[in-house]
Amino acid sequence: MVFSVLTVSDRCSQGIYEDKSGKLLCELLKEHGTQGEYRIVPDEISEITDALKFMADDIGSDVIFTTGGTGFAPRDITPEATKSVIERETPGISEAIRYESLKITPKAMLSRAVSGIRGKTLIINLPGSPKAVKESLEAVLSVLPHAIETMSGNTQSCGGN
Ligand code: MTE
Repeated sequence: MVFSVLTVSDRCSQGIYEDKSGKLLCELLKEHGTQGEYRIVPDEISEITDALKFMADDIGSDVIFTTGGTGFAPRDITPEATKSVIERETPGISEAIRYESLKITPKAMLSRAVSGIRGKTLIINLPGSPKAVKESLEAVLSVLPHAIETMSGNTQSCGGN
């Protein structure tokens, strides 16, 4: 799996905060694949969509994880930016993340995260805190190899567990 990580945060992009969540994602994903691009952008639609298109179309990432900007704050627009670049939504992925996260904290319902497919790339929004990143990733990691396989057109192994 080639994975890319996009941190969406005004303050991290300005160097006011260290990007702990993006770095944690890269670390946690290391044993599951190869890192493509890692980038930090502010909460601006065009910067998010440009980065997502680059990671999907130019790098050829199998999966892009975004972290941050999924909440209710006025500048939280990661889901809207993501929806504008995906061709097909994958609600089950985001439902699974919220389902597992709700067992840990009711605040999980405050994430508006979405996910979807652009070409042969799966884009998954995760919330912004390191804690949320770790918990959310654990909910979906096991299905990623099969997701990538089916995106590339191989549906042979769908019968198994
Ligand atoms: N999901 C998990 N698994 N664990 C968490 O601690 N925090 C929530 C939620 N999802 C959380 C979580 C909180 S407090 C918020 S405000 C939303 O994610 C949105 O976060 P974001 O705006 O940083 O993307």
